[in-house]
Amino acid sequence: MDLATDQFLAELLAVLSPRGLVTDTDLVAPWLTDWRGRFTGKALALALPATTAEVAETVRLCAHHRVPIVPQGGNSGMSGGATPDASGHALLLSTRRMNAILRVDQSAREATCEAGVVLQTLHEAAEAQGLRFPLTLGGKGSATVGGLISTNAGGTQVLRHGVMRAQVLGIEAVLPDGQVFNALTPLRKDNRGFDLKQLFIGSEGTLGIITAATLRLVPAIADRVVAWAGVQSIQTARALLLHCEAGLGDALEGFEVVPQPCLDSVLAYLPDARAPLAGSHPWNALIEVVADPQHASGLREQVEAVLAAAVDKGLVTDAVLATSEAQADAFWTLRESVSAAERARGPAMQHDISVPVERMPDFLVEASRAVEAQWPGTRAVGYGHLGDGNIHFHVGAPAGAERAQWEGSEGKAISRMVHDLVTRWGGSISAEHGIGQLKLAELERLADPVALHLLRAVKAALDPEELLNPGKLVALAPSSATP
Ligand code: FAD
Ligand code: LAC
Ligand code: ZN
Repeated sequence: MDLATDQFLAELLAVLSPRGLVTDTDLVAPWLTDWRGRFTGKALALALPATTAEVAETVRLCAHHRVPIVPQGGNSGMSGGATPDASGHALLLSTRRMNAILRVDQSAREATCEAGVVLQTLHEAAEAQGLRFPLTLGGKGSATVGGLISTNAGGTQVLRHGVMRAQVLGIEAVLPDGQVFNALTPLRKDNRGFDLKQLFIGSEGTLGIITAATLRLVPAIADRVVAWAGVQSIQTARALLLHCEAGLGDALEGFEVVPQPCLDSVLAYLPDARAPLAGSHPWNALIEVVADPQHASGLREQVEAVLAAAVDKGLVTDAVLATSEAQADAFWTLRESVSAAERARGPAMQHDISVPVERMPDFLVEASRAVEAQWPGTRAVGYGHLGDGNIHFHVGAPAGAERAQWEGSEGKAISRMVHDLVTRWGGSISAEHGIGQLKLAELERLADPVALHLLRAVKAALDPEELLNPGKLVALAPSSATP
């Protein structure tokens, strides 16, 4: 290590104390690879500040020494956003010690918490007050409030409650020069110019480090019914969704689709798991319907009637309603394990894409056909949030492909083709996982030039030295990576 680095680390140690600074490479190593195992980087050290003041002081010090910072929450992100590059110049800054729920206000239905609070913990804190935080996803045991806000996460309740942006009432963030932007207090009306907190939502740690947030809560549900239905095609799944929306209205909270090959992967991955239905169904829909205390009675009968009508219309080939909370959770475990099961299956290119909701079934058919025809031996599957027009479109490598080699050659070409198609269909190459380092070059290739100009102008205004999460989401000069 050179003298300047020694000096920087000594000053950082004075700010963070030994508990807040890890330089032992063995202890830092587990945080240098992303969840998918796609990216591995290096870091100067791991900073673990415990307060906003410590974050601010750390950022000021980094600005002074021109040390880049990579913010990290639960490291469950899907785009390599929390993984530093290979240079080893950056400081990895984890919010994991900032994990206090500061306040749950029952009457205002708000929770204020530090950025490192894990989603599952927030769910439990809200439940303890008879309330609910209305956003969930498979990574809830590790994803943090700061990460969810920074990626503007989606998940499986977006249909009814919207994405993370809709849940954020206030934010506290440390700016790239160490100033603290405090907008934690939510006001129902506030027209003092731009809604500045929005800048940080979805900005993937490139404009500031979120240290705390005030979040919207909703009343607890009185009852829920979870159903698993077999359907013949993705077009039928969409028709079933419309049928459920018409019959269940606002009570419909989740509608997720899982094709049979993905269910098979999950069943192979989770030895104790069981398929909800007998036989094989080309597509499966997981449907969650909830009721508040005023409408709790008769929910099950209502769902049964809606599904029976769907069978009569030929939309559903077979369906089952969970008979206990444990079974309902088991259905959800099947759905939430698709990512991990697909990851275990072998090399694949993942595309987190959206197109206008009503076009998704046709898109999926067309994209699968085009990819599999051009690259024989590949296997295209799409699963996820059909109701939001957001599917995770995975293309598996042919049997025997060597991972790194395939991902870097054919895999890249496949992703380009998928992203071109998505763009032609009026969609987005990132529906809910963000750009990170995974899609930076693709964003630069495909984004509307005016949108790219705006992204860069905002970055240049707040972080002209590009010290916050460099190489992710937006680069002031076009990135050198080949798309
Ligand atoms: P990290 O992975 O640590 O970081 C993500 C990004 O946010 C990085 O760019 C990082 O630099 C930045 N960041 C983190 N904390 C801060 C902070 N305090 N201030 C500034 N920047 C910060 N995502 C969905 O949207 N929908 C899903 O349905 C979904 N399902 C998932 C299922 C599984 C099994 C897994 C493992 C993940 C899933 N995800 C899903 C992805 C992931 O959980 C989300 O992207 C989540 O928001 C990441 O949170 P995190 O704390 O792990 O962030
Ligand atoms: C899911 C993650 C991959 O929906 O977003 O399972
Ligand atoms: Zn998802």
